[in-house]
Amino acid sequence: MKVMVCGGAGYIGSHTVVELIASGHAVVVVDSHANSSPKALERVERITGEKVENACVDVRDAAALAGVFSRHDFDAVIHFAALKSVGESWQKPLTYFDNNISGTIVLMQEMARAGVGKFVFSSSATVYGAPDFSPIPESAALRTASPYGRTKLIAEELIEELSHVDPGFKAAVLRYFNPVGAHQSGLIGEDPSGTPNNLMPYICQVAVGRRPYLQIFGNDYPTRDGTGVRDYVHVVDLARAHVRAVEHLGKGGETFTVNLGTGCGHSVLEVVAAFERVSGRQVPLSYAPRRAGDVAEYFASPELARRLLGWKAEYDLDRMCEDAWRWQSMSPDGYV
Ligand code: NAD
Ligand code: UD1
Repeated sequence: MKVMVCGGAGYIGSHTVVELIASGHAVVVVDSHANSSPKALERVERITGEKVENACVDVRDAAALAGVFSRHDFDAVIHFAALKSVGESWQKPLTYFDNNISGTIVLMQEMARAGVGKFVFSSSATVYGAPDFSPIPESAALRTASPYGRTKLIAEELIEELSHVDPGFKAAVLRYFNPVGAHQSGLIGEDPSGTPNNLMPYICQVAVGRRPYLQIFGNDYPTRDGTGVRDYVHVVDLARAHVRAVEHLGKGGETFTVNLGTGCGHSVLEVVAAFERVSGRQVPLSYAPRRAGDVAEYFASPELARRLLGWKAEYDLDRMCEDAWRWQSMSPDGYV
């Protein structure tokens, strides 16, 4: 298939481009580089041995997008292009609404004009808010806990509505749990700008000496060791799920929504222990109060993704830490 990958220079996008090419698909990346470096795609070219066409376009720019559609005959679009910081979305809600919701609408409009009907969308477990129980099935109640979460929920609703109204539009809505890790080569990985918000990049920066210690947000949760429990999933497993999803739509599959997680929860202390074990580095830590908006524990039911796509996460927590550490130690300052 020929696939437009919007946000393909970002963390999950770059890994997905590698897996699409490895599976024999043709790729064109569309990325404004609002939160990524073009160097990520040079690294993708080193890994795959193939040239990757990269259009530096904002998905809200209808005319520029139309230009890319006019130059290619796409079978599908994968849409990663969004702003993703929960904390920042409280400071700049309108920026998030515009980028994530307007961006998705403009992209779907240009797909319709170009006659492209297959769409894979990056959603998030954040649409479950504080879930009532785990493992979380896709049928669980949806609620949002931030302006960022709201953008994902609204985009999901628009996609679902469009697929009811337009028989030519078929979508895969993928709800990621906690993506971590990096490509085995160590050439691509997560490169947050500024202070990392998420656990694994923070641990990596402590281990490599960029930050003195990890703060653990809360050790009084009702979990096995008092720290928060999450469903960490290797980014390469996640990338492969996108290949399955786009191929499923390519074979005539109907619109669907699935969770992408391992089905296992790990606590913060378990992640730190695994990281120390595989890296041989100490991660100094201190305890801090709970972070606003955090929940004690959640993990996915990945059953539907297994049944529908034949997808199951292969890599365990040690492998996630090993690959995250290889990337961090090979590129201590990211894509500089
Ligand atoms: P990322 O920031 O690394 O990648 C997003 C990419 O989209 C970046 O390259 C950025 O430059 C680009 N982009 C942003 N706005 C754009 C626009 N208007 N036009 C063109 N390009 C634009 O983030 P990621 O971690 O790879 O996340 C990818 C997607 O997955 C996002 O939609 C995010 O909300 C979603 N998601 C991520 C996580 C996570 O923990 N990483 C979890 C759940 C869902
Ligand atoms: C966060 C977002 C969520 C988003 C997800 C993407 C919030 C409130 N939630 O989820 O919407 O979909 O990222 O992956 O921002 N932790 C520490 N110290 C740190 C960082 C994290 O103890 O420096 C703990 C957290 O309290 C949590 C766990 O580590 O228990 C994982 O945190 P994180 O990686 O930020 O992911 P989520 O909180 O699941």
